[in-house]
Amino acid sequence: MGAEMDAFLGLEQQDPVIGLDGQRGERRRTYLDSAATTLMSRWVYTQVTHYLETSCANSHTHAHRAGRATTVAIEGARDAVGRLVHYDPGADLVLFTGNGATGALNYLARALFPPELRRCLKTADPKKTAVDAQAIVGRATAARLAELARRPLVVTTVMEHHSNLLPWIEAVGRHHCRFVETRPDGQLDLADLQRILAREGDQVRVVAVAGVSNVTGVRNPIHAIAALAHAVGAEIVVDAAQMAAHAPIHLHVADPEQSLDYVALSGHKMYAPGSRGALVGRLAHTVGTACVGDVGGGMVDSVSLDDYVPKDDITAREEAGTPNIPGSIAMGLAAELLQNTGFEAIEAHEAELVADTLSRLGAIPGVRLFGPAWSEHRRAGVVTFNVDGVHHGLTAAFLNDAYAVALRNECFCAHPYVKRLLGITDAQEHRYLAEMQHGERRNVPGMVRASFGLYSTQADVDALVAGVTELAREKERVLASYEAHVSGEFTRRGVGAALDLPPLFTGR
Ligand SMILES: Cc1ncc(COP(=O)(O)O)c(C=O)c1O
Repeated sequence: MGAEMDAFLGLEQQDPVIGLDGQRGERRRTYLDSAATTLMSRWVYTQVTHYLETSCANSHTHAHRAGRATTVAIEGARDAVGRLVHYDPGADLVLFTGNGATGALNYLARALFPPELRRCLKTADPKKTAVDAQAIVGRATAARLAELARRPLVVTTVMEHHSNLLPWIEAVGRHHCRFVETRPDGQLDLADLQRILAREGDQVRVVAVAGVSNVTGVRNPIHAIAALAHAVGAEIVVDAAQMAAHAPIHLHVADPEQSLDYVALSGHKMYAPGSRGALVGRLAHTVGTACVGDVGGGMVDSVSLDDYVPKDDITAREEAGTPNIPGSIAMGLAAELLQNTGFEAIEAHEAELVADTLSRLGAIPGVRLFGPAWSEHRRAGVVTFNVDGVHHGLTAAFLNDAYAVALRNECFCAHPYVKRLLGITDAQEHRYLAEMQHGERRNVPGMVRASFGLYSTQADVDALVAGVTELAREKERVLASYEAHVSGEFTRRGVGAALDLPPLFTGR
């Protein structure tokens, strides 16, 4: 990608390493955990620092320059995030939400299924919901709720990150959720989605699906899924946490049936720390005049002790309190960075790295890769694997300790999907879940994930491949050199946590 060494913070980080022979040294850190959190763009950092130096203030203050500049900056960031997903500023809203895409998806689930409806849906037989609603909330609200209750179902998939699973289960109850299965190679089973919609489509309110899987990098055909959802009168939300930095997103396409209704984004997965979440879509129609979010400062026109009048402006009303201002601004700047870089270049760069990693890791004896073959499906930015006979936690620990390669392991907050990819049976699952009750996590299954970003290079792939090659070859020595802890973590014998960074807070 031609990212210079200083274009992102932390690329020049030197980490201590200890080889299998006990030799200590230092290596440039290879950061392959971008699917969890990307490194921060130095351009974004510089711009945010400039903002903080010249204009740091509260967004609700309009009496001085910095306060006004802050409001302008937040609105600029909102527009930049919208432009990243090609929103229609006349019809769509960009709402900054709480923690990452999790905040955005929880917000949307609350907006689509208000608390009164949730109570009914979670306790009632769907056919009786309207009657129950009336008993609980009174006639006027019940009429609206009855309308909503006619479509009490959410369709999501077994591939989802928990953040696109649990908000829906919490909203409507498990018995109102339908889960689309995956095929053995990890791609979504579209025939299963079609079966579900053919059977119960008239009761489905929303289809919630990831744009890109955080486990395999599989890209879902979101516009085809949108058409299927719309054909039965449902809406579609795309969890784009893992997509936004890797592939272009078009909220609207030429055929409105294939357009998306909502997308959820995570700033910290697109080169902007601060964990800002954003939800983009036709929120005016969804949220209406209701106050879904928090109440408090900034969201009201007037307050007395008897009553308050919320603002009409939805983003002002729904973002009560002082927002995460640097996080919002950083997210907007990162959205501009991605647009300016261009997705053609981003996708070509990542495709090269992913294809090369898959082919080189796949050639190492004893390495098992997960997800569809590259020849079948061009996934985005992620390669997951295991080394036969080596715990996923040990693989990650060894690569960190000996090669300064930073990876993630275990189930990546996508337990149902990882369970399927690994072929874990229900009986096996029950066994390790029972052990976990007693704090024993050593038998929790998982895999190891290498994930790429704008700054990833061929040298990063080389470091990963070198580490995995040594691990697969010297498996017995590695196993003997490490201690497994009940937490599921592994530490090098005689070294412990000595390779860790010193704490930021020393208590003094
Ligand atoms: C596909 C997907 N969806 C949602 C999330 C949740 O994002 P966040 O932790 O930023 O809320 C993640 C995080 O890994 C993810 O990969």
